Amino acid sequence: MPGTPSAAPGGAATSTSVATGAPNAGEDGTDPSLAAAPALRFPDGFVWGAATSAYQIEGAAHVDGRGQSVWDTFCRIPGRVRNGETGDVAADHYHRWADDLDLIRELGLKSYRFSVSWPRVVPTGAGPVNRKGLDFYKRLADGLRNRGVTPMVTLYHWDTPQELQDLGGWENRDTAYRFAEYAATVAQALGDVVPNWLTLNEPKTIVQNGYLSGTHAPGKQDPGAAYVVAHHQLLAHGLAVQAMRPHLGTTGRIGPALNLHPCYPADDSPQAQARTVLHDGYENRLYLDPILKGSYPQDVLDDLASYSPIHKYILDGDVQVINSPVELLAVQYYTPLYVTAEGDTVTRYPTTEAFWQQIYPEGMYDILMRIKKDYGDIALTITENGLPTPDTLGRDGRVRDTGRISFLRDHFAEAHRAITDGVNLESYHVWSLMDNFEWAEGYDQRWGLVYVDYATQRRIRKDSADWYSDVIRANGL
Ligand code: FCB
Repeated sequence: MPGTPSAAPGGAATSTSVATGAPNAGEDGTDPSLAAAPALRFPDGFVWGAATSAYQIEGAAHVDGRGQSVWDTFCRIPGRVRNGETGDVAADHYHRWADDLDLIRELGLKSYRFSVSWPRVVPTGAGPVNRKGLDFYKRLADGLRNRGVTPMVTLYHWDTPQELQDLGGWENRDTAYRFAEYAATVAQALGDVVPNWLTLNEPKTIVQNGYLSGTHAPGKQDPGAAYVVAHHQLLAHGLAVQAMRPHLGTTGRIGPALNLHPCYPADDSPQAQARTVLHDGYENRLYLDPILKGSYPQDVLDDLASYSPIHKYILDGDVQVINSPVELLAVQYYTPLYVTAEGDTVTRYPTTEAFWQQIYPEGMYDILMRIKKDYGDIALTITENGLPTPDTLGRDGRVRDTGRISFLRDHFAEAHRAITDGVNLESYHVWSLMDNFEWAEGYDQRWGLVYVDYATQRRIRKDSADWYSDVIRANGL
């Protein structure tokens, strides 16, 4: 049965907790235990990296011909983003990219995942290409290669061009075709330097936050439309894979970036078990199945029938397009979900500053093993995992984010356990390289390995960054 829990409901809490975690970081921020051979050695060639996204770090919202995105619009609606903050300046990465790439090299990262801003490259989403926008990403990709870092590109990290939104956004099937054209444009420009490509970041978050809760752009609360949006995003993924392929040569690899949530019943009742299966359908199989198996999960379609017209939007041949062959599955793991007999979710483990996140490292193992069991041995990359911690810059210039070190250590260990048990995991990208604009939370939450002093835009390596450098050097912990 999909989603079968490996931890008994109500079982002992994980050893990790932000409050009580006891990291081994020494006074200088390095981990003395790493001086010796690591106890958990990762396979040779395992790739360590970090991730960001365009709207969250670039700033330069009105520079060099960038068009408007739905997030520019959303941030300006009073009450939608904490403190009325916006990504207008963010971490000013658009101007500071060269220094940031030096930092990436200094940290020893082998892979860097960034996203391309659709409205920077195609300002209206459908019209002519903005050369200056495309050139920025060319500089970035070349700059990474010159520093010995492999670029991984996400084509869509939620910044839909506003002009396409005005035409219906993901509710409009045309948006999927426009996305494929844009994807081909970027692939053509960067295909010779970028080997790893991700189409859409977390289509589920657009569905759930953008169209169910309305907490993200475009801020709608329309369950019927939400799943039409799911289908059109999946279609966009498949169309983009097909459109990009001719530009990527024989070595370019493409995949989706999915936030997957291991789902467990909150109690032993048959009702909770049954609800968990359906919940898993909505959280995981709705995206994994059409992409990797070429079919929508029937239980989810049946459930949707009462409230969403998605069926009318799935045209003949669509599922085959969505099922276009991919070489990579990007997994983003943050939290487990515990499902009650009533179908609600409850909190079982300590949470972080992000209310939705429970710390459960074993969930990393479970979701990786489950993919292997149900979807086979496609190459896996973890493209996001991390947490926000209440980081402050000390008078001595250090940021002692011990909670981040213990969180990452425990999650790395679970990834290692999955590799030992045969999972084809090739790389791990921590979210995030640096502090950034955390969507509706504005700049309140700090998710970075690197601290950003927004007043000066100075970057300061947190203790976790130094610890992570040691892990990378040792290829283990
Ligand atoms: C993921 C997003 C990423 C960031 C992290 C915390 O859902 O892809 O942009 O917001 O959560």
